[in-house]
Amino acid sequence: MSQYKKLHQLRHDFKKGIIKPELMATDPIDQFQYWLNEAIDLIKDEALTMTLSTVSSDGQPSSRIVLLREISQDGFTFFTNFTSKKGVELRGNSKASLLFFWKELERQVSIGGIATKTSVKVSDTYFYSRPLESRISAIVSNQSQVISSRQKLDNDFENYRTTEAKKLERPHNWGGYILNPDSIEFWQGRENRLHDRIAYQKTNNGWEKFRLSP
Ligand SMILES: Cc1cc2nc3c(=O)[nH]c(=O)nc-3n(C[C@H](O)[C@H](O)[C@H](O)COP(=O)(O)O)c2cc1C
Repeated sequence: MSQYKKLHQLRHDFKKGIIKPELMATDPIDQFQYWLNEAIDLIKDEALTMTLSTVSSDGQPSSRIVLLREISQDGFTFFTNFTSKKGVELRGNSKASLLFFWKELERQVSIGGIATKTSVKVSDTYFYSRPLESRISAIVSNQSQVISSRQKLDNDFENYRTTEAKKLERPHNWGGYILNPDSIEFWQGRENRLHDRIAYQKTNNGWEKFRLSP
């Protein structure tokens, strides 16, 4: 019989950094870019994994990892299937959140805002930059729908690759979303669980910055 681990005995002390609010950028997207660059230097593309949370029409939240593919003053861009579970939820409620956890830096960033579809041009540019096989997968996968077997998926992929690969058009239900933030919180783990939390809130006069209790 397998033994449950004693979870409470697994403890980690956070001591890799501190946040000095006066050194944080006035604009949280600039600040995010600094932290992201540090994470990329350390853990490469893994730094781009973020948890996207959406909410269903009956108020049930759901989360999954997606990849950050672009960042600008307009927000955080990721690509997916518009008719997937997340796509359907975003159509009903465009409020969403993103969460980054960079373990190696003992940092977390949480972002709240409104996600809308990117322009067709942005979706096209990204879709056609992807490797051939990834494009085929996006075409044959009816993301989030129940399928009869793995075999069916593999067959659909192979059939497409051998007979239709020349028609590699971006499916209309696949493309980008951009989440325009109205709140961004930066968290740095500290000793004795007395962490640093600096939150930015968008107001009519721009971004306001304040410290939160850990
Ligand atoms: C490291 C990693 C990266 C992923 N990147 C994406 C992505 O960029 N876009 C995407 O649609 N799904 C991505 N996925 C798969 C999603 O987590 C999820 O399974 C899928 O999008 C279906 O989610 P949904 O049914 O909640 O809509 C990724 C998963 C992992 C673990």
